[in-house]
Amino acid sequence: MQVINSIEEMKQERKKLACTVGFVPTMGYLHRGHLTLVRRAKRDNDVAVVSIFVNPTQFGPGEDFATYPRDTERDLEMLEKEGVDFVFMPTPDDMYPDGYNTWVETFGITSKLEGEKRPGHFKGVTTIVNKLFNIVLPHKAYFGQKDAQQLRVIQKMVADLDMHVKIMPVATVRSRRGLAMSSRNNYLSKEEREAALVLYKALSTAEEMYMRGEQDVARIRVKITGIINQEPLAKIDYISIADADTLEELTYMDRSALISMAVRIGNTRLIDNRTIG
Ligand code: PAJ
Repeated sequence: MQVINSIEEMKQERKKLACTVGFVPTMGYLHRGHLTLVRRAKRDNDVAVVSIFVNPTQFGPGEDFATYPRDTERDLEMLEKEGVDFVFMPTPDDMYPDGYNTWVETFGITSKLEGEKRPGHFKGVTTIVNKLFNIVLPHKAYFGQKDAQQLRVIQKMVADLDMHVKIMPVATVRSRRGLAMSSRNNYLSKEEREAALVLYKALSTAEEMYMRGEQDVARIRVKITGIINQEPLAKIDYISIADADTLEELTYMDRSALISMAVRIGNTRLIDNRTIG
């Protein structure tokens, strides 16, 4: 496994590769969710590249950029075990040198949900992912359904800008009891980790209601809002039941729906989602 810290070196190494390249962009502090993406990249391609970069431009003021968990040594051990070929770990100064002033922004779907609650977040994501794609030139890039809106934004960017890369969605990986794996779970105390199961409970209840024939979005929303509000440590940021493609809010479950939510458990903001129908 080759660990590369400079953009120039990554570009040089990429030039030498005359085979298929699979790419997994991450912000590190890796868990089983990330590793599932890595395994898919390994399986589908000749060479697997993983990037680790905590991207400052996708964090808002007052968000957790400074405290975002980091453990490079552990990350590299995990990636080595997976048989990853290249790990790209650029520095912030290399990615955003003085005078850096170009941004990639997708409009429309970024104005809802995470985009509405975290202004500028997706502009940071699309810009960094664009830069990473330009450096790594992957044939396929792997993104988790865990960040359902991010996946859609990236797909839209790639389609709108006629990029060559193929975006490969990967299902959300969960703990045995249903908690979606996330680097931010590291912030949770034991008690909070238990409380965090309420997101999964709410999503599962919504799906059960739908399976039993419930079509009325308002009734599903009331039910799952109630479930989350019963948990004293949980505070709802948003709950959305939206058209799975456009992310427009629905009143009837008459098409494929993305149920997504952001919930604060203590000081930690968690997101989760499920596609239904
Ligand atoms: P990060 O949160 O590290 O996630 C990297 C990738 O892993 C994303 O595609 C995310 O959706 C996926 N992922 C995270 N948890 C997952 C889980 N439980 N199951 C399946 N996939 C999971 O997302 C980012 O980093 C950044 O925004 C990035 C795309 C790297 C741009 O900076």
